[in-house]
Amino acid sequence: MPLPKAELHLHIEGTLEPELAFALAARNGVELPYADTDALRTAYEFTDLQSFLDLYYGLMAVLRTEDDFADLADAYLARAAAQGVRHAEIFFDPQAHLARGVAMETVVAGLGRALDRSEAVHGVSTQLIMCFLRDESAASALETLETAKPYLAPQGPIVGVGLDSAEVGHPPAKFREVYEAAAALGLRRVAHAGEEGPPAYITEALDVLGAERIDHGLRCVEDPELVARLVRDRVPLTLCPLSNVRLRAVDVLAEHPLPAMLDAGLLCTVNSDDPAYFGGYAGDNFDAVRVALGLSPERLRELARNSFLAAFLEHDEDRRSR
Ligand code: ADE
Ligand code: ZN
Repeated sequence: MPLPKAELHLHIEGTLEPELAFALAARNGVELPYADTDALRTAYEFTDLQSFLDLYYGLMAVLRTEDDFADLADAYLARAAAQGVRHAEIFFDPQAHLARGVAMETVVAGLGRALDRSEAVHGVSTQLIMCFLRDESAASALETLETAKPYLAPQGPIVGVGLDSAEVGHPPAKFREVYEAAAALGLRRVAHAGEEGPPAYITEALDVLGAERIDHGLRCVEDPELVARLVRDRVPLTLCPLSNVRLRAVDVLAEHPLPAMLDAGLLCTVNSDDPAYFGGYAGDNFDAVRVALGLSPERLRELARNSFLAAFLEHDEDRRSR
């Protein structure tokens, strides 16, 4: 029985397995520049974040209809459930679809259809977080938030905003205005920071964007004062160990700083990021760190407990304090 856990760092587009990509390509008459699924998998040799993003955005060409997004999310939820995921806070990249002429309505209605039946079918509760692409302009992010207004909670499934894509050279402060607007709309706020970018981007995401969780946050270990702040303020970090190896943020899993981060008192969680590309889903990431880092059963339980503490779920204390 896999440990029950919440997944808090998962890009739904990153769950597009080669088999589904080819099935959707055939369904939509999209020609892929790969002979078959083996050839596609062979291309998953990444040297850094950008080399991954180039392939990832390219393969999104097969996602065109509401059914495509529903099938994508349903396939992820089935796999996640099998690995013990009971709650998933799912990222999507609206700008990557809008730019290809796929409407926000198509994306959200498709994902929403799978999410709506997820508890009944898979036993997984869900929330949706829309990410702004940090290598696009601040104006584009604001426009995207405007387009998303009909789909925001409580009427719609979108509960929060995030920030992803190429990090270095695109500091969080670029998105101050859109995060202020998101906060005014009652949305939760998270941001990728400190994956490839410097620790200062983590500080900026907290101070300027009001981020409640930091996605990755790996490079905080380079700044002891920042670590002390993250510990003191119980800021959750959504780490993605297999992703870090595949995108070369760490050389090998055995050198991942996760054990030292837990020892330092950081509220770490373990997640899959883009599981179809990085070699595994949430449970696979737990298994990989258990083996490579020799984590004890207590440490693994701590990670699973952290995932629920860090989730945007209503906790008992919240209810009691009302
Ligand atoms: N988009 C999908 N996966 C990502 C990652 N690991 N970092 C930044 N943007 C992403
Ligand atoms: Zn990510």
